[in-house]
Amino acid sequence: MPKDEVRVSPDDRGYYFGDGVYEVFRIYGGKLYEKAAHMRRLEHSAREVRLPLPCPLAEIDDILERLTAESRLAEGTLYMQITRGEAVRSHPFPAGAASVLMAYCSEVVRPKLTMETGISAVTHEDIRWLRCDLKTLNLLPNVLAKQTAQDHGVQEVVLHRSGTVTECSASNVMIISDGVLRTHPANHLILHGITRAVVLELARGLGIQVREEAFGLDELREAEEVFITGTTVEVTPIVRIDGQPIGSGEPGIVTRRLQTAFEATFR
Ligand code: PDD
Repeated sequence: MPKDEVRVSPDDRGYYFGDGVYEVFRIYGGKLYEKAAHMRRLEHSAREVRLPLPCPLAEIDDILERLTAESRLAEGTLYMQITRGEAVRSHPFPAGAASVLMAYCSEVVRPKLTMETGISAVTHEDIRWLRCDLKTLNLLPNVLAKQTAQDHGVQEVVLHRSGTVTECSASNVMIISDGVLRTHPANHLILHGITRAVVLELARGLGIQVREEAFGLDELREAEEVFITGTTVEVTPIVRIDGQPIGSGEPGIVTRRLQTAFEATFR
């Protein structure tokens, strides 16, 4: 539909409560990247917050495929969200409300420059709830974290719970320490990133030792390399944290190898 013909009720629970789930897909070569993994995560998020899908998953898949084809984008992103629908404002689940699906494609270019040069980050306490594995619309802590980054003139925030690094405001974080790749385990404290899973598999394939094990702020600061992974950032090096350089202050060699390997998955 043309955007100005879309109508969403002011009583939509997504608007009142952030009562919904979402996914962001990458489009590479006109195709949805890792579509099956995104659909599995969507189903997981919806099930865990007891949100009925508006139609069977196969039908959602058809809608997204049609949208992607009609967008004619070779490269871009597809955003989709499902809310618990329209109902008079009251906290419990409404009887008889129909879930609302909204999706669109955007022309978003690949982050080639930042992947090349690396970005800077600051650290910040992770104040989110304890189900960060669910991709829900409740993103206010992430918004506040990202704004903190902006306020410091940097691009990302590395979140930590009392000194234990979890992830970033919209990406997962990995370090290379003594040649070993380390990242927080995929439990309830982080989003199980689709890019994270792809990169870990690539790393193992390249013979890089991988440990899905939490690490602290000291290990982060002393790491040889730090990088983030995500649908929008792909594999982006972090070269400065809280004003201090990571390693040589340049993107590291392992990060470069993983960038090349990642690019090969959609080329
Ligand atoms: N964010 N962690 C968080 C908190 C995220 O919001 C995201 C993605 C990731 C990376 O997940 P993936 O590799 O599946 O994109 C990790 C999306 C892009 C967003 O909210 O815009």
